[in-house]
Amino acid sequence: MTVQTLHTAQPFSRDPDWWRGAVIYQIYPRSYQDSTGDGIGDLAGIVKRLPYIASLGVDAIWISPFFTSPMKDFGYDVSDYCDVDPMFGQLSDFDAVIETAHAHGVKVMIDLVLSHTSDQHPWFVESRKSHDNDKANWYVWADAKPDGTPPNNWLSIFGGSAWQWDAGRMQYFLHNFLTSQPDLNFHEPQVQEALLDVGRFWLERGVDGFRLDTINFYTHDAELRDNPALPVEARSAKTAPAVNPYNWQQHIYDKSRPENLNFLRKLRAVMQPYNAAAVGEVGDEQLGLEILGQYTAGDDLMHMCYAFELLSGDKPTAQYIKDVMDHVDEVATDGWACWAFSNHDVMRHPTRWNLTDDAQRMFTTLMMCLKGSACIYQGEELGLQEADVAFEDLQDPYGIAFWPEFKGRDGCRTPMVWENSNQNGGFSEADKTWLPVSTDHLGQSVAQSEADSGSIIHHYRHAIALRQAHEALKTGTCSPMSVDQGCLVFTRAGSDEELYCAFNLTDENAKLEVPRGNWQVIDSAVSHAVPQGGTLNLGPWQPCILQRKLT
Ligand code: BGC
Ligand code: MG
Repeated sequence: MTVQTLHTAQPFSRDPDWWRGAVIYQIYPRSYQDSTGDGIGDLAGIVKRLPYIASLGVDAIWISPFFTSPMKDFGYDVSDYCDVDPMFGQLSDFDAVIETAHAHGVKVMIDLVLSHTSDQHPWFVESRKSHDNDKANWYVWADAKPDGTPPNNWLSIFGGSAWQWDAGRMQYFLHNFLTSQPDLNFHEPQVQEALLDVGRFWLERGVDGFRLDTINFYTHDAELRDNPALPVEARSAKTAPAVNPYNWQQHIYDKSRPENLNFLRKLRAVMQPYNAAAVGEVGDEQLGLEILGQYTAGDDLMHMCYAFELLSGDKPTAQYIKDVMDHVDEVATDGWACWAFSNHDVMRHPTRWNLTDDAQRMFTTLMMCLKGSACIYQGEELGLQEADVAFEDLQDPYGIAFWPEFKGRDGCRTPMVWENSNQNGGFSEADKTWLPVSTDHLGQSVAQSEADSGSIIHHYRHAIALRQAHEALKTGTCSPMSVDQGCLVFTRAGSDEELYCAFNLTDENAKLEVPRGNWQVIDSAVSHAVPQGGTLNLGPWQPCILQRKLT
């Protein structure tokens, strides 16, 4: 692999802090817009839809992997880090994405999956050939125990042992995900160098940042020690469904090893001259926020980490959100979180939390008022529910393995709906799309939503615009949160204003006392409640944002 140097439009002109408080729109490229008629979305499709994305007011897009891949995990199994899979187009199409996005003032983050490759990657093909080839040590190989069983008790998230036997080398190799996703050996310096080169390649091509897949999985314990079992009462299901025994272990040896920090530091140094930003995905049941704090401390590791706290579980209460934010304050004093309610791995949140339309709107406004950056997942702005995908149509191997107790991730990955009148909701002209377009989604297409002034897409635009208009929301301080009658209350402050933010997360009316001060109602499109003589009557699922100038 050679690192090509290209002339890029404006590689050094980025504000180094552009990512703080940014609103990032996540695109799952297979399901965004097909421009070739093969039933699979592609990069040219994204180019076509960039004006729409820009119209939402977001700062950046994060595009899930579009690199060459056998697509066993739909692109999260990469066989060439420096090329585009033909299904998605070619490098010149990616250049068009960058150029068009930048022309619309939108930054581009790409999803680097560095923890593992595909088993088709030439590195692995070579590595598995013998014990003494150049890349013999690039993956995690280990001998069987004397009884032939795997070297330790580590589990794959996608089911079964994390070790797969290779009859050629007569050894096991490690895979935290599918057997076709062998784990790279980060203890091998050449592996780290090769991966830093991947980063350089895309930075030179003009990307503004990276979403880094599973960053706490990079390094494993070189001694291959067994993970301890978790007591039953300590099990939780934040990153894997409850039916997955992966949740029964304390993952202290297979991930989140201290050596990770060395690589993250090197990667940050590579990104620094470009003012590019990284959001690292940290998946850990017990210590997710602690790791977030550790990885985003100071200014030589990750810029931000992507947290799972609002991505799973039951509908959050005000107390839950307060507890999460208090915890962040405690363990990530100078760190930075990136929040999301939905993504390509979890059930869409309106379904997961069984939200009414009002509640959906309130959560969106709340997200825009939280300290941190925010990711919106494609289709969320239309208020889409999780799609029902029949077993025969399933694509996700994770869902196929755990069906029907866990149906996998296809229900949040069905194609975007652009128009109701067109075939496949305007997503594709193919007879059959890779996942069926949900007929339940058709009535919420972009075209119909745009035409209906009462639809949620307009609320997303208002809520995003609110954040963009207030430095206090993007980069300001946040007071400790308080809970009153099930309402979440906090203030955000910037250099010249303070914002009072109150959210009623209940089905009941609440009566709150607004602290003294010359508060003004701002942005009535987002917040309708008006305090009367210091008392704020907040209806069910209603937000209220008030402003006072600091002079
Ligand atoms: C990605 C998943 C993927 C896994 C393995 C994740 O956390 O978001 O979609 O299956 O990493 O790469
Ligand atoms: Mg296509």
